Amino acid sequence: MFVIDDAIFVAKSWRMHLNSTGSITRFSPLRLKAFVPALAFAAVMGLGHIGFAQEAHLPVVASHSADTTHHGDGPWWKHAVIYEIYPRSFQDSNGDGIGDLNGIAHRLDYLQGLGINAIWLSPIYPSPQVDFGYDISDYENVDPQYGTLADFDKLLAEAKAHHIRIIMDMVMNHTSDKHEWFIESESSRTNPKRDWYIWRDGKGIGADGKPIPPNNWVSLFGGSAWQYDPKTKQFYYHEFYKQQPDLNWRNPEVEKAMFGAVRFWLDRGVAGFRLDAIPNLFEDPKLRDEPYTGGTDAYGDKKVSDIYTNNLPEVHDVMRRLRALVNEYPGGRVLIGETYLPNVKELDKWYGGASHNELQLPMDMQVGFINKMDASLFRERINQAETEIDGNQPLFVFDNHDNPRSWDRYGDGVHDEAIARVIAAMLFTSRDTALMYYGEEIGMVTTTPARKQDVRDPIGIRGWPKEKGRDGERTPMQWSDTKDAGFSTAATTWLPVAPDYPTVNVKTEQAEPASLLNWHEHLIAMRRNDPALRNGKQIMLDKNNPSVLSYVREGVGGSPAVVVALNFTAKTQTITLNPGAAGIRGTNIKTLLTDAPSLEQTKSLHDIVLPPFASWIGSLK
Ligand code: GLC
Ligand code: CA
Repeated sequence: MFVIDDAIFVAKSWRMHLNSTGSITRFSPLRLKAFVPALAFAAVMGLGHIGFAQEAHLPVVASHSADTTHHGDGPWWKHAVIYEIYPRSFQDSNGDGIGDLNGIAHRLDYLQGLGINAIWLSPIYPSPQVDFGYDISDYENVDPQYGTLADFDKLLAEAKAHHIRIIMDMVMNHTSDKHEWFIESESSRTNPKRDWYIWRDGKGIGADGKPIPPNNWVSLFGGSAWQYDPKTKQFYYHEFYKQQPDLNWRNPEVEKAMFGAVRFWLDRGVAGFRLDAIPNLFEDPKLRDEPYTGGTDAYGDKKVSDIYTNNLPEVHDVMRRLRALVNEYPGGRVLIGETYLPNVKELDKWYGGASHNELQLPMDMQVGFINKMDASLFRERINQAETEIDGNQPLFVFDNHDNPRSWDRYGDGVHDEAIARVIAAMLFTSRDTALMYYGEEIGMVTTTPARKQDVRDPIGIRGWPKEKGRDGERTPMQWSDTKDAGFSTAATTWLPVAPDYPTVNVKTEQAEPASLLNWHEHLIAMRRNDPALRNGKQIMLDKNNPSVLSYVREGVGGSPAVVVALNFTAKTQTITLNPGAAGIRGTNIKTLLTDAPSLEQTKSLHDIVLPPFASWIGSLK
């Protein structure tokens, strides 16, 4: 099993380590729904000091403003739930089988009801779509597939009316090879933009008559990271596809141009950026070969470490300048980083450590991608985020468009839904900013293509059958049990809708009080309203228990503390919690939320009997 802080782990290998076979086989197509009697569940809702609506599917959202600042407790993003939308797959509004901006606007009521505060929009810029938008050919426009700039402005305004902010995906490491900058750059060795990309001479001609690349660096998407250009007889560097040439961040004009694009969107009113592949901005200027680490990857290349192409210290200077730029704008604009890093020390650097002058929210991938139900490891990693990042704000994430869905990474094939509840409870009751991915809230599964000819993601085409690509986690959002799951009216959608949509969909789950969707709504509402969950310190309890993760969130300003106990095993576990030892006093226990009917009447922290994979959240006063 992969260990994330293993020395071999290389940050750029976000996918390699997660699923080396690329096949997800642990779930059965007919999902086993955890049984929770609806009435009992609704009764529990009524018990909480938060005052849930009795009808669990008509939640608490009507009265809230996601923007409300509670008790003056810091910037909005500290308490936010950020929801990643993969625009191709969320909602199609014009029947072409591809999601679009107007489709997203159409679903804002749903998103407000869920309780999210911001959308992270995967790239919508004009793009040849080689990497489905992560190959940008114009940073200051919208791809016609998704709409127009006017549609974007309308979405921004409508989202604001729903108290939802929009965070753009910003790809600074590379452009599309069809971007005018690259077209100029490749046109001749003397073009003024030549040095905007990383052009180098090769090492002569090989025995096969082909030019030899400058060094042994490999692309994360397979093969040499160097592409030869016969016209100018040099190679250019590409960390990803050859249609995604890396920009040369040692050239100040590149920074100036890219920061211009950043301003373009900030001026339009976006709330910030998710910075794509941001640790990859710089490469070793000496082009030293990277050491081989043994074995081959899914594409058949010899594995190399990435010490000369990833997380070079120079990147932090750029981050500090970018933060200074963003700070010029009012309203708490936020920088989020796609930061797969080997340990919490490296993560802390991305905040600027104690100086707090780089990203506000580099993603913590140490927690969400543990990929096994290991209570001890979660305890250790969550505690590190609480205590070892210089008072910065952790951002936890379990799902995104690059990895098999958490349902499959954590599920055991028998208790999948209960496990999904444990994951959600952990995400929303920890002292973190929470990042989620569309469909996570209804339990969408990874639906990896079974035949190579159906694969759309080029890494799956290239890496088949070892690497089947990322289509599986990008299937259309399941809104209802009607045609195309309510996603589209097209005869065929860009990726097929997952076959479980007749039962796994928003409409069905909205009508089921005990559904996974309502579980998410309740957790998010609790997190928004409860002072302890907003700001209370997170203190681990029962620290030697390998089977149950328990913690307390300290009360704030006289509010009750919140105690959380999550059974990480398929066995019944009996626990006794002693928050008093951590200085948290109180005798009055009330259940706030649980998926175990037997725990609804819990009155004491002694001998709590947790059924397999049960979640229990209570207040302590
Ligand atoms: C990031 C994106 C991924 C993309 C890659 C290249 O890792 O999340 O989807 O393929 O960058 O832009
Ligand atoms: Ca469309």
